[in-house]
Amino acid sequence: MDKKLLEIIFDNLYNGIYIVDGKGITIGVNKTFEEMSGFTNQELVGRSLYDLVGSNNYFSGSASLLVLERKCPVTATYSTSTNRKFLVKGRPIFNPQGEIEYIINTIWDLTIVHYNQQIDADTVRSQLLNEEDLVTCSEKMSSVIDLALRVAGTDSTILLTGESGVGKSLLAKTIHLSSERKQKVLMKINCAAIPESLIESELFGYEGGSFTGADKGGKAGLLEMAKGGTVFLDEISELPLHLQSKLLGVIQDKEFYRVGGREAQQTDIRLIAATNKDLIKLVSEGQFREDLYYRLNVVPIVLPPLRERKEDIPTLIQHFTDKYNRKYNCYKKFSENLINQMVGMPWKGNIRELENVIERSIVTTQGDFISWEKVQIPGIETLIPNGVGLKEMLAEREQEILLQAEEQFRTTRRIAVALGISQASVARKLKVLKENNIDLFHKKHQ
Ligand SMILES: Nc1ncnc2c1ncn2[C@@H]1O[C@H](COP(=O)(O)OP(=O)(O)OP(=O)(O)O)[C@@H](O)[C@H]1O
Ligand SMILES: [Mg+2]
Repeated sequence: MDKKLLEIIFDNLYNGIYIVDGKGITIGVNKTFEEMSGFTNQELVGRSLYDLVGSNNYFSGSASLLVLERKCPVTATYSTSTNRKFLVKGRPIFNPQGEIEYIINTIWDLTIVHYNQQIDADTVRSQLLNEEDLVTCSEKMSSVIDLALRVAGTDSTILLTGESGVGKSLLAKTIHLSSERKQKVLMKINCAAIPESLIESELFGYEGGSFTGADKGGKAGLLEMAKGGTVFLDEISELPLHLQSKLLGVIQDKEFYRVGGREAQQTDIRLIAATNKDLIKLVSEGQFREDLYYRLNVVPIVLPPLRERKEDIPTLIQHFTDKYNRKYNCYKKFSENLINQMVGMPWKGNIRELENVIERSIVTTQGDFISWEKVQIPGIETLIPNGVGLKEMLAEREQEILLQAEEQFRTTRRIAVALGISQASVARKLKVLKENNIDLFHKKHQ
């Protein structure tokens, strides 16, 4: 195809495109990305993502850096300093030697609030820190996200199922943000959290004087307040049976009555429901209405547990390490041995449990290098990890000593004296170490 035509296509794609080389240097972005992000091609070209990513910087995170680190395609969300939010699919292009030559990132805009000059920089930064970003490199999760993006634009009801902590709430938010309704509210309702006696009036609202203690003027319910937006009914299995039929009415007739009300309220909402229970089993036990189940299950999306997508574990460890390093202002890194150990764990609490372990390890360990002997992780019960040879353990300990010595003594000459080895071998060992930990060293020496 002619080059000019390719350029026209590049700039007129519906998605933003961000191209990076094998060292993390920006090669170029298309016009759509410029419009989405508020950054120009000119200001980004030639700049390393290692310099562009971080709190108080262009991007809060980067799919490309995770692709470079893990050498696999990655899907991730992140925010920008212009207060935009994106979902990115980064795909590595390998050269014949098997090294990454380019990374092609395709970008979807999840922004709802446009950057407001009145919000001061600190507020934006703290928002960025609190952002929960989604990251994955597994094929299973990528196809889940593809399905979610495909149906996001429709008004179909979606039922998200999966164990606790697999990311149902996060995916519900992502679906809302990629839908036409993203400028309107995402109303989250946890059916297990509202007391049974209140749930009807909370959901459907009430008319004045309908019960003692009610507001005289009546009150709109959550479904009414969500008009035009998305309603996320979390833990749907906990909805009492009589309200299940009322909800069925909402879905079928797109209207309902407030408690004590005579006037039908029209609804304009998109429903996403979630559960970690087996709804079919509850249906067979008479705990959940079968007709409601089929109404909710228009588009079923099943999120696989973490132990069925182990390839996500190293990428998530990297992602959460970056997140908590930023939060606590440190530069810690997990050893490859420890990461391998963690890949083998069952992770019953899924991603929530993994995230907690990473945060706790970063907060409680001393030194920048987190190895297996420093952390206490339920499931890694022995002090000597199984299947890790003495050689690897010694190598890990050596790396740690070198890092500490470098921090303390600074020059290779002083390190050599302190450790009783030659300056040449200090230099050689540090070089190898730095080559294996480019990311860590880069940040440290900025
Ligand atoms: N793919 C992911 N990448 C990054 N973080 C994730 C991912 N999936 C989940 N998380 C994080 O893990 C935690 C648990 O996710 P979430 O609350 O969405 O799970 P859930 O399935 O709704 O759990 P529950 O059934 O207990 O409500 C959250 O802090 C979320 O941000
Ligand atoms: Mg949840």
